[in-house]
Amino acid sequence: MKINITTNNTVAKTIVFPLVDNEKLAENLSKIAKHVGLSAETLQQDFKAGAKETLVLYGAIEGLEKVYLLGLGKTPKAMDFVKVFRSFFYNSKKKLPKNVGLKLKLAGLEAHTEQIVNGICLAEYEVGAYKTDAKKVAEFFTEDAILEIQVAENCLESAEKSAEIGQATAETQARIMALVDAPANFKYPQKLAEFAIESGKKYGFDVKVYDEKQCLELGLHALLAVGRGSTENPARFIVMEYLSPSATLGELVADSRSTSPERSRRVGLVGKGVTFDTGGISIKGSASMSYMKSDMGGAGAVLGAVELAAKLKLPVHLIGVIPATENCVDGNALKPSEVISSYSGKTIEVIDTDAEGRLVLADGLAYIKKNFEPDVIIDLATLTGNCIAALGYVAAGLLSNNDELANQLLETGQETGEKLWRLPLWDDYKDMMNSDVADIKNLSSLPLAGAITAAKFLETFIDGHTKWAHLDIAGLAFGDSEFAKMKSATAYGVNLLTTFLRK
Ligand code: BES
Ligand code: ZN
Ligand code: ZN
Repeated sequence: MKINITTNNTVAKTIVFPLVDNEKLAENLSKIAKHVGLSAETLQQDFKAGAKETLVLYGAIEGLEKVYLLGLGKTPKAMDFVKVFRSFFYNSKKKLPKNVGLKLKLAGLEAHTEQIVNGICLAEYEVGAYKTDAKKVAEFFTEDAILEIQVAENCLESAEKSAEIGQATAETQARIMALVDAPANFKYPQKLAEFAIESGKKYGFDVKVYDEKQCLELGLHALLAVGRGSTENPARFIVMEYLSPSATLGELVADSRSTSPERSRRVGLVGKGVTFDTGGISIKGSASMSYMKSDMGGAGAVLGAVELAAKLKLPVHLIGVIPATENCVDGNALKPSEVISSYSGKTIEVIDTDAEGRLVLADGLAYIKKNFEPDVIIDLATLTGNCIAALGYVAAGLLSNNDELANQLLETGQETGEKLWRLPLWDDYKDMMNSDVADIKNLSSLPLAGAITAAKFLETFIDGHTKWAHLDIAGLAFGDSEFAKMKSATAYGVNLLTTFLRK
């Protein structure tokens, strides 16, 4: 679907008028009534512009086939635009023709073009990719379809830029949703590596993939320990590096290892890439185990953020690291009680093989800190059920040793609708991870504060870095929605990280 931003009247015969329930509603409805040849009173009576409320008017006047009124509620926030437009276009896409007009000018909604376009483009995504009769693409989303968006003259340029960003974001979000939704036999560590390689080629960033032999040479022992139970699909360590073209010019210093204060801002991202988590020898119950195909949701967020940053040519130096493995059961699998080594050199007593995410992240964090010295490190992981117990499916847990970074992330999450809530990272919790036999153990003996003790474990591996944030996205990467009957991927983190980088 192509998007045309225009200041003219749209030529489309199907038109969507989004409306806010504010003091201008009656006046706006009168204008629409006039436009379609209906009485203003009837429209005002039948349409109150509640969030997601729709009213369709058929062929009331020459040259118009359908006019949709779409309600946005009283004071819609940025995220509400995404939600309402995704929902409306998802539910009506089969009924829409190839040419649709969207009038933003009437209600003065041009400032929300990015979110509106993002919501519309996300509506294309479907979870049924593996059905033999995989649904045909709706006419409205075919390549030669055109969405004409009418804006006021003074908004033309900014709306064009915003529409581009909204569409680019949705495309990457949909690719990440497809990856997180992919079943375990279609998605294993090498598949994540291939995704990164193809994305790097297309959008211009470097990708290095280390196979299990190279992982051993590097000393990624904690990652390899988790991967031992997976003989068919061995671990991969994926390192992506995007350096903005503008960083090679002017004030920004290109050398990625430079410690000059003028070099471009270097951000390190680490994503948990467990492509399926059986729990290992500490095996999970079978109820809902199939959802553990989404245990690479953190990796998805990082793959998406690097892809989108490169696509949007953001002026940053971005490093994305993904320790990717399955956590499976086998005679050779990691056993509780084992003491393993790690990239950092620290030894870890494995109490529970289901607490595997922190093991692979330990290597990812230590690696990125040592090899790239990023200014900021952010890791994302579907790490603990305990975080879901604390915050439900509403907000991801945020644990950080830096108030400024934490506040920036909290604020960004409010904006994009990818909510975060901060949990403490006090040293009072540290002793719970002390091991009698090794430097640290991977599970506290007390079944308390599990999201925090997991973060205290990770903190051990950042080697004193002072600007680190850990996002526990266990409840957010995969969730219930109106777009599928079972839980499905959300692409949580892609927009959050990219918006954070844009700022
Ligand atoms: N992948 C899970 C966490 C998870 C739970 C993600 C629910 C998404 C939804 C993680 O590896 C895990 O198994 N965590 C255990 C840790 C426990 C053994 C201490 C958990 O939270 O139950
Ligand atoms: Zn687990
Ligand atoms: Zn896991």
